[in-house]
Amino acid sequence: MERTHPEDFTDQERIEVRPSGPLEGSVVISGAKNSVLKLMAACLLTEGTFTIRNVPDIEDVKVMGDVLRHIGVSVHRADNALVIQRPALITGEVPYALTEQLRASTAVLGSLLAGIGNARVALPGGDDFGHRPIDIHVAALEAIGCRLKISGGDIYATVDNLVGNPVLLEYPSVGATENLMMAATRATGTTVIDNAAREPEIADLAVFLNQMGAKVSGAGTSTICVEGVGELHPADHTVVADRIEAATYLAAVGVAGGEVTLEGARGDHLAIFCRKLEEMGVRTAKAANGIMATAMNRLQAADVSTLPYPGLPTDTKPLLVAILSVADGVSIVTENLFSGRFRYVDELLRMGADIRTEGHHAVVRGVKRLSGAPVRAHDIRAGAAMVLAGMAAEGLTTVLDVHHIDRGYENLVGKLGSLGADVQRLGVLDVC
Ligand code: UD1
Repeated sequence: MERTHPEDFTDQERIEVRPSGPLEGSVVISGAKNSVLKLMAACLLTEGTFTIRNVPDIEDVKVMGDVLRHIGVSVHRADNALVIQRPALITGEVPYALTEQLRASTAVLGSLLAGIGNARVALPGGDDFGHRPIDIHVAALEAIGCRLKISGGDIYATVDNLVGNPVLLEYPSVGATENLMMAATRATGTTVIDNAAREPEIADLAVFLNQMGAKVSGAGTSTICVEGVGELHPADHTVVADRIEAATYLAAVGVAGGEVTLEGARGDHLAIFCRKLEEMGVRTAKAANGIMATAMNRLQAADVSTLPYPGLPTDTKPLLVAILSVADGVSIVTENLFSGRFRYVDELLRMGADIRTEGHHAVVRGVKRLSGAPVRAHDIRAGAAMVLAGMAAEGLTTVLDVHHIDRGYENLVGKLGSLGADVQRLGVLDVC
């Protein structure tokens, strides 16, 4: 039997979404996925017991835990904290079975080199974002004395003496900046990273490294200075709020209307995103402990273009495309970071959206209403975008491949439901 209706997928894990809004209440924003994964990697730098607090309960953190365990480190969750015990002896190997599940596992390269002087990490390969090279990581680590080669699908990295040096990154790559920062903590001399990425997660990593005894300054700006130190020690740190999770709930208010407070969210980390939402008709304001968002009317079209931080985050783009697909007017959306990041558009088209893509641009003509359909989550943010689209669609939308959403969102359905959205998660066992 051909399956075309949202009701035809009761044999799969799924999220069912029905027309929703206005939303009301408050939601607590979790710790940042893209920070905690790197903080976990940083625990490889030295022996001892680390505590990382405000850790989101998401699949990517579990896989990073498996990466550390494979290396010989013990990782335990205690409520919303992770306790990580790094023994004196660890291996530097991460197999493909793990890296293919989590691209960010390449974040262990820099900390393994500084911690034990060698690493063998399987290359993760491409993904739905398109081509994902690591040449900038390689050039950055080589600039401070590491030797790297790729063979049989693995990166082999070794170093005898890490030597602080000036390093000009060809592009402000988040991952390369982080790998270099971690490796440079133990170098002899000072490493000055120019054209560094400026994301808040990089500043968070610098705070953690400094608590460990490193000497990092300038993180959050384009020039980061890492003065090498002889010794590091374990640290206890609370993860910065997840700005992309916060953006998801802001976009939800945009598409469904209402008034919502995002507890713990950092408005200063979302300045351009909030400015764009204002242009579309969502009011955002600083609340006592977060951001308050209000939307009373249909959204207006707005042109958006992704850029490295502090520009509009590429990770918010699927959310924006989803909500612009039901805004009044025509929006032009431009992707400047990743070669392929429009696959979810086909899913929106199945819901009646009017979107044309051409290279790294999309022209989004807002329609009055979408219509519910079975759709797939192609990656973390695209999955959340499908849930938002379902809230603005007639009838039932069934979001499939929800494991992608689980990689990066702690309890998306529960949090949206607490704001009044008509969303529920159903598993294979819920077949009636
Ligand atoms: C991180 C985030 C991801 C976010 C991205 C951009 C994590 C776990 N992931 O990914 O959610 O979308 O930042 O904000 O933190 N590039 C190269 N060569 C390299 C490295 C990168 O060409 O060696 C290119 C990439 O292909 C891409 C661009 O640089 O086009 C940005 O990548 P980068 O900033 O490195 O992103 P990630 O660290 O992979």
